[in-house]
Amino acid sequence: MASERLDRIRLSGDVPNHVAIIMDGNGRWAKQRGLPRQLGHREGMKSVRETIEGATEAGIKIMTLFAFSTENWNRPQKEVASLMSLLRRYARKELDSLKRQGVEVHVLGEAERFDDRTRDAVAMIVDGTKGGGTLRLNLMISYGGREEILRSVKILAERVAQGELTVDDLDEDVLHQTLFTVNVPDPDLLIRTSGEYRISNFMLWQIAYTELHITPILWPDFNREHLFEAVLDYQRRDRRFGLIGVS
Ligand code: FPP
Repeated sequence: MASERLDRIRLSGDVPNHVAIIMDGNGRWAKQRGLPRQLGHREGMKSVRETIEGATEAGIKIMTLFAFSTENWNRPQKEVASLMSLLRRYARKELDSLKRQGVEVHVLGEAERFDDRTRDAVAMIVDGTKGGGTLRLNLMISYGGREEILRSVKILAERVAQGELTVDDLDEDVLHQTLFTVNVPDPDLLIRTSGEYRISNFMLWQIAYTELHITPILWPDFNREHLFEAVLDYQRRDRRFGLIGVS
């Protein structure tokens, strides 16, 4: 699809390798229309599809979506059930199209909390898309940034206690190897929709030097042009990683 923004992204050339998204505002989108929250989430699934297509067009290699937080388990049972059902539906409906696009899906988070049916659906989409070389898609489900770091600390403490590692062996690389995002480079760009200026316990370790783009658009209204706009915003940034800029 022709897009003037996409042309500008390509001209600049500096496409973010890894884009992470906090998909927020499904509930408000539904409320504004007098609809149940579930319909907001369902509409949000269309934005997921559209954003993946946009990411492949722009040449983004890794996309990470915050689909369900550890805190989300505390939402009303009906909403949790409907989000899990949506995830299963997503796996069923999108598998063929994801394969065709070369998207390799990874599901990261506390998977042991999924029910059997959801676990099967996750296995199906992960196994079914293995080897896709165009885009790596990380779906963060039952995920929390603090929980992830705490889990790493426990893994490392156990290894030290077993004598496999000494305290002096511990460094950023060793810790990185214990995160859910093992071997995934940190996000270059983090997008948050719905105009909230918060990180909400998302990828706390990984976003140390990530550029932030916050848009007022509610997630169900988010489309590829909004993704391209975020990439163009990223391309205007001067990333210094704590160093001084090039003058
Ligand atoms: C935040 O909106 C969104 C979520 C908690 C769920 C995200 C899920 C989807 C976009 C659909 C399913 C995705 C996949 C990959 C199958 P909110 O409910 O917090 O909105 P609010 O802040 O307006 O209430």
